[in-house]
Amino acid sequence: MYRAPRGTTDILPEEQAYWRYLEQKVAEITHLYGYERIDLPMFEDASLFTRGVGEGTDIVEKEMYVFQDRGGNSLALRPEGTASVCRAYLEHGMHSRPQPVKLYYIGPAFRYERPQAGRYRQHGHFGCEAIGEADASLDAEVIDMARQFFVRLGLGRFAVVINSIGCRQCRPAYLAVLKEHYRPHLQEVCEDCRMRYQKNPLRLLDCKSPACQPVADSAPKNPDYLCADCAVHYAELKRCLAVLDIPFQENLRLVRGFDYYTRTVFEVHPEAGGSQSSLGGGGRYDGLIEELGGRPTPAVGFATGMERIVLGLKREEVPVPQTPGPQLLIAHLGDAARDAAMKLAAALRRQGRAVLLSGGSRSLKAQLRQAGKLGVPLVAIIGEDEVRTGTVTLRDMTTSRQESVPVDRVAELVG
Ligand code: HAM
Repeated sequence: MYRAPRGTTDILPEEQAYWRYLEQKVAEITHLYGYERIDLPMFEDASLFTRGVGEGTDIVEKEMYVFQDRGGNSLALRPEGTASVCRAYLEHGMHSRPQPVKLYYIGPAFRYERPQAGRYRQHGHFGCEAIGEADASLDAEVIDMARQFFVRLGLGRFAVVINSIGCRQCRPAYLAVLKEHYRPHLQEVCEDCRMRYQKNPLRLLDCKSPACQPVADSAPKNPDYLCADCAVHYAELKRCLAVLDIPFQENLRLVRGFDYYTRTVFEVHPEAGGSQSSLGGGGRYDGLIEELGGRPTPAVGFATGMERIVLGLKREEVPVPQTPGPQLLIAHLGDAARDAAMKLAAALRRQGRAVLLSGGSRSLKAQLRQAGKLGVPLVAIIGEDEVRTGTVTLRDMTTSRQESVPVDRVAELVG
């Protein structure tokens, strides 16, 4: 028996209400903050992510689905959306549009991760990117939007965590003191941290291994080593968040797993916690467009995972609107009745009414049982008598009451 590949899930009909609800909230929030939708390819040149996300990152090194197509091109299933949006911004000359260009995307992303609750190899991804504006008030607006998205979804138990990781000018000096701090402890920290020390020292701060916590906790803090411009930007971000009344926590160890970030980084965490549980995350990436061959262009964005939101909605027991199914099932007995039932179903559907037509030639009892199982409130029964008199017997499934009605009145009774 085939099963869905490890780390992927089927979204069954009974789960769909959550996803429709999410899509509706995405449409609402992006409209409120002036973002326009962009749909991006599911795969890109692998080097877009190697350059954009960064060679030494876990995403590129361990998690990307890379394959060769029949033309010998090296492609990758997209592990995220930011690099693709920047590629599209450059490809379509969007620098000539009014800045910032605000774009959002929704669709699957792929990462070869160790699957567990809330962590999949294919997950639903909603992200937004504002490209072409350097002001810290835009960082605050993106954080506000992320927060409002969760609030409008009905989630209440989450926290916004922020940090600043500086820019290309001030980061080398910080990395030097960070490495200096770690050097005497290299025998105490985990194997991964010894690798990070060599390849990607900022990620040392992100380690979850208990053995590494004392060294990471006592490490020098990035905001203490920012250049003057980055320090002003960080102070301005916090001021803007206060103006907007946005509660936030500073986590001076927050670094995130992408090389493109500069200055602001942030995450949204559910209070229920768990190290892999961030509801969403984002930050500023002022060097990425240039890295991909464009002019220096500041940008900031955010993304979130749909499955984690669905888990949050279930955990917090948020009611989501259900789309009502068909309100009428047409049951029939005999060949002539079957034709009449088909015609009635087609006529009602043409008038915009959702109906189910009983299949095959089952007994009336079996057809009524099916209506009961499907939760259909009304059944129109057509037998030989009804065909002759141009009527149906309408049965209310809750009260079991039946009445004979002319076939052309069924539409108004179904509503
Ligand atoms: P990210 O933190 O890697 O950021 O992903 C954003 C969100 O996607 C996470 O907070 C999480 O909710 C969800 N997510 C990530 N991986 C998985 C997974 N394996 N299973 C389920 N959900 C997952 C980015 O992708 C950046 N591009 C965000 C960004 C946009 N930064 C600036 N602009």
